[in-house]
This record gives sequence, structure tokens and C-alpha cells, in this order.
Amino acid sequence: MLCYNWVDDMSVNVKGIDDHNKDLIGIMNVIYYSLENGTNHLVVPEICFEIMNKAWNHFTREEDLMKSFNYPEYEQHKKEHISFLAEVVDLYDKYRFCTSGDDVGMELSDFLDTWIALHIMNSDKKFGQFMQRN
Ligand SMILES: [Fe+2]
Repeated sequence: MLCYNWVDDMSVNVKGIDDHNKDLIGIMNVIYYSLENGTNHLVVPEICFEIMNKAWNHFTREEDLMKSFNYPEYEQHKKEHISFLAEVVDLYDKYRFCTSGDDVGMELSDFLDTWIALHIMNSDKKFGQFMQRN
């Protein structure tokens, strides 16, 4: 099974944001390993909880930074963060009482995969570029 690695292309050139996104990749790898060794149904609810806590802190800091730069796409970006948190809460609810199942974790890893492609590689990078220009 594939695992994720941080690549420089993922950088938004803001250390705090990059550090959080590296954390997220580490979490994705925990999901992959749990899928491989069959402990996925045990770790996925915990991982959802960990993501919620970390993402909440990270999003708040990122949004504060956007406000301080008068970032014009702040509202749209914030909506993406809120939607991410809502989805993780839904996945947590769905899997918290799961006792077994091969597919537990796949939905979460697919969701995080999409988040990296659409948010980190697009929306966060856009903000990083905006900061560098201003
Ligand atoms: Fe963001």
C-alpha cells in the first residue's frame, strides 16, 4: 500500500501552515498502516478526534493570519475549513462504534487525499502566494 510523503511542491512557504500540513500527512500514514495491519476500525475514531483538535487550532491561526493580511478570499477559505471540520465530525460519528470492517478508514483516507489536492495544493498555496506578494 502506498504511503504519503511530504514534497516541496506542497509547501505554501509559511512555516506554521507547512508544519500543520506535514502533521496531516503523518496522520494519513497512520491510517494507511492501520489498514495494512487490520487495526483500522480501532484507530479511525481516535484519528478523527485528533484531526478535529489539530485542524481547529491550525484553521484558527491560519484565519487570523488571513485577517491580518486583509486576504480577499478569507470568507471562501473559511467556508472550506468549516466544511472540512463538519465532514470529519460526520466520519467520527459514523465510525465511533465500529467493531470491525475492511473499509473503515478508506473513506477517511480518501477524504484527506482530496483535501490535500483541493485545499492544501490549491487554496492554501494561493494564500501563501498572496502573502509573499503583500
Ligand atoms: Fe486553509
